[in-house]
Amino acid sequence: MSSNSFGKKLVMTTFGESHGEMIGAILDGVPSGLKIDRELISYRLSLRKGGRNSFVTPRNEDDEIEIISGLKDEIATGAPLAFIIKNKNIKKRDYQDLVGKFRPGHAHYTYLKKYGLFEESGGGRASARETAMRVACGAVAEMILREVGIQSISFVSKIKDVVIDSCDDFFKTLFCEPTLITDKSLFIPDEEKNARAENILDGLIKQGDSLGGRITFCAQFLPVGLGDPVYEKISANLAKAMMSIPAVRGFELGNGEDLSEIHGSQFNDEMTLDGFSSNHSAGILGGITNGELLYGHVHFKPTSSIRKKQKTLNAEGKEVELEMKKGRHDPCVAIRGSVVVKAMLDLTLADALLINMSTRLDDLKKKYERII
Ligand SMILES: Cc1cc2nc3c(=O)[nH]c(=O)nc-3n(C[C@H](O)[C@H](O)[C@H](O)COP(=O)(O)O)c2cc1C
Repeated sequence: MSSNSFGKKLVMTTFGESHGEMIGAILDGVPSGLKIDRELISYRLSLRKGGRNSFVTPRNEDDEIEIISGLKDEIATGAPLAFIIKNKNIKKRDYQDLVGKFRPGHAHYTYLKKYGLFEESGGGRASARETAMRVACGAVAEMILREVGIQSISFVSKIKDVVIDSCDDFFKTLFCEPTLITDKSLFIPDEEKNARAENILDGLIKQGDSLGGRITFCAQFLPVGLGDPVYEKISANLAKAMMSIPAVRGFELGNGEDLSEIHGSQFNDEMTLDGFSSNHSAGILGGITNGELLYGHVHFKPTSSIRKKQKTLNAEGKEVELEMKKGRHDPCVAIRGSVVVKAMLDLTLADALLINMSTRLDDLKKKYERII
């Protein structure tokens, strides 16, 4: 399993399992001089945490983060930043129903076939516990972006028939007031729609079932120039970033229009002296940011762990029934997933920003002017 790192210049490597002693990450490539804002890291982690309300997993880890390397007086030294969080709220007995049985929709079958081993309790590396580290590293990426004025948001924009349609003005409102998202139980930035989705989820929890959801993300004040053709296109890297999040099944740039029904004359963003007249390209042309709002959607599948009885196989290859009476699961992983989406967005953008510093000879000459 030698693929636990993400990024080229800002490289995050995560380690640890759901029911192991701890989870951790090393973030390499953080520019020296960056002030590390521990409160921001803790705040982002608190949004991803379980136990916040009845719509997320009751597993209530305090997610107290320790930074064990790379800091001098709270300033990044340029050495790798290393984080750990000790796992405290482990209840292996809650996973007894799963022992020796493949959990439909989860990673047990493929992990066991590929590696010959699988940690039933908590799901080991397949567990989204790992995403706490993405969120911690994402907060550091956010600090780098903040230094150059780049901002990003993510929110839940669709659960069943509750839909938030966004436009530039709506995004701008959310950038000014991100608490419109974070003060909602389901991170749906609309009081009435959030309440309606709560009712839907309440019904599902009673039935022992789960639901998927759609996340919208957006970044503003990007420079022209993030992303490198041909294999480091910002669009390609964002797709990989998002598709690496557990339970993500779809990624799209823009507003989710059916492109097979749209004409070039409608889709092209015409250019005028006042700038682009529209933003169908969602801020990316040729894999490079064009300075407009970058936005899109991430689609999460329904949580695979449900209380409803399901058919499956056991490790001996016999047909059995699985009824997960216990286990602490999210009825809709998209809710906490939305926090992970922002983290992966920020990591991808900060990585591209650092790579972009060495694009032109002029930039290099400027840096070494005094020496030359
Ligand atoms: C924040 C977050 C929380 C999750 N919580 C659960 C959960 O409680 N139960 C579950 O079965 N899957 C949960 N998942 C999804 C699984 O980790 C994922 O479905 C599993 O690893 C299989 O991978 P795949 O769905 O990408 O194929 C969660 C995902 C995220 C992003």
